[in-house]
Amino acid sequence: MFNRRKFVEASFLSSLGTFINPFKTSSEEEFIPPVLGKPVVLSTWDTGIAANKGAWEVLGKGGRALDAVEAGVMVTESSQNCCVGLGANPDRDGFVTLDACIMDEFSNCGSVAFLERIKHPISVARRVMEKTPHVMLVGSGAQQFAVAEGFPLEKQELSPEAKQAYENWLKKSEYKPVVNIENTKSHGPFAPQYLENGELNHDTIGMIAMDAKGNLSGSCTTSGMGFKMRGRLGDSPIIGAGLFVDNEIGAATATGQGEDVIRIAGSHTVVELMRQGLSPEQACKKAVERILRIKKDKAKEIQIGFIAIKKNGEYGGYALQKGFSFAVKTGNVEKLVQAKSLI
Ligand code: GLY
Repeated sequence: MFNRRKFVEASFLSSLGTFINPFKTSSEEEFIPPVLGKPVVLSTWDTGIAANKGAWEVLGKGGRALDAVEAGVMVTESSQNCCVGLGANPDRDGFVTLDACIMDEFSNCGSVAFLERIKHPISVARRVMEKTPHVMLVGSGAQQFAVAEGFPLEKQELSPEAKQAYENWLKKSEYKPVVNIENTKSHGPFAPQYLENGELNHDTIGMIAMDAKGNLSGSCTTSGMGFKMRGRLGDSPIIGAGLFVDNEIGAATATGQGEDVIRIAGSHTVVELMRQGLSPEQACKKAVERILRIKKDKAKEIQIGFIAIKKNGEYGGYALQKGFSFAVKTGNVEKLVQAKSLI
């Protein structure tokens, strides 16, 4: 029987639900107006400056965000003295294995992981998205698909810098994350101190963009943690962890210790926090706070950085530790931003 008391309770709970119900349908969610005609691209670390230029070749001409985020990170994948692609550090058995994912404004997504001898994993991820019924291909299957799609199989050899770093690492064979290793100016995966010590690192570029039509896309590509266990995957090829795009709300991507980004479904968490009304910087900060709560005393040993764009054109980033930077490009801005951090 539905008595008056139950009716009052039900009305109270329903009005409360307007503020806190996490299961609201999209029609009840905050409407975030898209920004038309003002493209923007963000990417992680200082290598993002060159990558953003590549993306701008597309965005600046009114092109689609998806094409821009593919073209942008291809610049980094091609760079031999960088952290991403075939020139990067190998796994503990001496092989470079690559992970990448891409996501567009329709929530289409594609991913490859544990991919060897292919120069542009991001483009293979896009083919997975566009030409298969699947989201993710890994290992020899991903390589077989890439070759069938016409991607050349490159030689299995380390760059001279990676070879030296690997030989040095073999002397101790220790697992030890290096905070901010991706920042090529101050550290860099092949900076002298690491070449000498052969310390462990992880190398990623994440890129998110909004095009002139107000549509969002993102890409993320990495060689993962240097000297990782064979077969190890981080967050970068995992949709929701290393990258997430919801064209109604915003886009986010992550860099740093992938295991800890996966633990909180990091990029999806950032987008959901923006859905609840937080700015990109606040959303990235909250996600990093979750990781700090989980890691507690061990947090000082790792770095995590998030960047995000909201549908209204706002953007921002936040990191666990000092030293994380992200590159921004719009029609009239080109800059490297030093992100705020918790530690
Ligand atoms: N964020 C890259 C990785 O951990 O593999």
